[in-house]
Amino acid sequence: MKRILLSLAVLISAIALHAKTLVVYYSYTNNVHSIITELTKQIDADVVRIEPAEKGLDYAANNYAIGSAQISAIRNNPDEASSYPAIDPVNVNLAEYDCVIIGAPLWWSNMAAPLQTYLFQNGKAMAGKKIELIVSSASSGISGVEGDAKRLIPDGDFLSPSLWIRSSQTSNAASLISEWLKTTGYDTMTGVEEIQAAQNNGRYSVFSISGTMVAEDALSMQTLEKGLYIVNGKKVYIK
Ligand SMILES: Cc1cc2nc3c(=O)[nH]c(=O)nc-3n(C[C@H](O)[C@H](O)[C@H](O)COP(=O)(O)O)c2cc1C
Repeated sequence: MKRILLSLAVLISAIALHAKTLVVYYSYTNNVHSIITELTKQIDADVVRIEPAEKGLDYAANNYAIGSAQISAIRNNPDEASSYPAIDPVNVNLAEYDCVIIGAPLWWSNMAAPLQTYLFQNGKAMAGKKIELIVSSASSGISGVEGDAKRLIPDGDFLSPSLWIRSSQTSNAASLISEWLKTTGYDTMTGVEEIQAAQNNGRYSVFSISGTMVAEDALSMQTLEKGLYIVNGKKVYIK
């Protein structure tokens, strides 16, 4: 019994759990909000919406003057906390999450300023976590937003590709999201409960994707390179 418990403890630390995902997003005109609403019908996640501290600002007025000024301030001094617009406090314990999905509107080729504020304050605490990015723009390409995410989460383990949904595609988000989850490998990562259910008296037959048997118990699983494997018939991401 003791041995089984030990094996289980080792296994739990050996598997990249996908059991806990946090979605953090900002949305001014609710396109990203609609996208995230669709996303959370397809995955199990806790969700946080970032809100600017200053209410009622019209970011789009006068040819997007306020949004433009906020982005310029960040571009001019990205390392200064005072360059970032204040946001409402966010009460999340990042240590609880293995994966963070970021939902970002694009502003002037960059990540919307209030979301950059959150990541400026918390991105370093996301080191080693799986990071996935969803971006909404009217038409501009998203490489600048990806650059912002990588600057603000310097040690994130980014999964690619990011999901780019143009504003005009928002109503089609459900199918774009489900395709994307398959492409990034998100839906092949299995929760620990399923792995525990799959084990057979403490033994796990682990195959590489090419079909070679590579491990037979929790201890030998510890030595595996990170990647996708078949554990007792289920696809699992081991890190
Ligand atoms: C301040 C501001 C700047 C924007 N700049 C661009 C831009 O440069 N290129 C673009 O394609 N869309 C731009 N947009 C449009 C948004 O990216 C697009 O409408 C997005 O879907 C908004 O997401 P939301 O509804 O969740 O806020 C801008 C929007 C705002 C408010």
